[in-house]
Amino acid sequence: MDASPEAPAHTLEDIANYFRLQAQYCRHLGSPFYGKLVDKIADDVERDGVCARILEGYPHEPAASAMALRFMGAFHRRVLAGQAPELARHYPSAGGDGDAAAAWPAMQQHATEHVAELRRIVATIGVQTNEVARSAALICGFLTVARETGLPLRCLEVGASGGLNLRWDRFRYDAGAAAWGDPQSPVVLRDCWIETTPPFEIAATVAERAGCDPHPVDPTSEQGRLTLLSFAWPDQRERFALVDAAIELARRVPVNVERANGADWITRQLATATPGVATVVYHSIVIQYLDDDSRARFLAQIAAAGERATKDAPLAWLRMEPGGEQTEVMLTTWPGGGRRRVATAGYHGRGVRYEAS
Ligand SMILES: C[S@@+](CC[C@H](N)C(=O)[O-])C[C@H]1O[C@@H](n2cnc3c(N)ncnc32)[C@H](O)[C@@H]1O
Repeated sequence: MDASPEAPAHTLEDIANYFRLQAQYCRHLGSPFYGKLVDKIADDVERDGVCARILEGYPHEPAASAMALRFMGAFHRRVLAGQAPELARHYPSAGGDGDAAAAWPAMQQHATEHVAELRRIVATIGVQTNEVARSAALICGFLTVARETGLPLRCLEVGASGGLNLRWDRFRYDAGAAAWGDPQSPVVLRDCWIETTPPFEIAATVAERAGCDPHPVDPTSEQGRLTLLSFAWPDQRERFALVDAAIELARRVPVNVERANGADWITRQLATATPGVATVVYHSIVIQYLDDDSRARFLAQIAAAGERATKDAPLAWLRMEPGGEQTEVMLTTWPGGGRRRVATAGYHGRGVRYEAS
């Protein structure tokens, strides 16, 4: 693994501290298993053990490329592929006991035997998380557009990754007293809403769905499935099960996620009006990843397409993006350009507060 010329050298102590910080995040975000295991890895890196060998000459900037999550994803991938049976005995996602203390020697052993392959995975496979529960927040916007336009929806997702949330209308949303969607769906979102529930009495039809991502993952391929599952944390069973179920659904509902920059792709998608449908451009936790030029072009394209929108070919821009401790789900609709907040939600899509308009 050659270091790129611009990548600064990081000492083993720096890397160990970076892993320790990640361990804290894992604990804070509800993964005690990773919390303990990542601390063990930090200690190993600091004493120049096998984990340091796997990371030697790591070609990316550690924080920007989420080095620790890539590292954990590489082991998880091998566990899920059946290539690390001793380690799998302790990974809950593979039916293991969740004992991080027992997992560590098995991990060390596996690392020692597979340094080259683990180095390859860590260097080449970037973190791809698909948060299926974000659809529990986005649906607030989709149903609002369906109600206000009375038209089928043309759903265009920017930064779709594996495109799991492009099948949002095939999920079941169950808020107890009210529900929406196919009761037979393998993807069931429960307990996601607080205080209010989205307007589940509104019907919505998706006429067309398409997405883009510079690094799309094909969930229908075995390698794509492994990539998506490997970045779900192994002891977060519900999140893991949701991604797994959404992959199953993706195999039944084909969608094209084009390899493209969001600004270029949206320019093409919005070049001509599509009458008889409401076009909904949407994204969740994406805007920060666009470089300045792409972001400016993307926003300009949306605004220009909004100016051209008509009652018969309306446009909506729905986005779930950071708003401090929570995300904000904002909706702008044209003709008119009215902008409002339709919900706030946690970063992974739970704790959704629908705001009726
Ligand atoms: C944090 S992930 C969110 C994925 C998905 N939207 C979700 O909510 O689970 C950010 C996504 O933005 C994508 N991305 C990065 N730069 C982009 C760009 N210039 N245009 C479109 N998507 C981009 C990444 O590849 C990644 O899939």
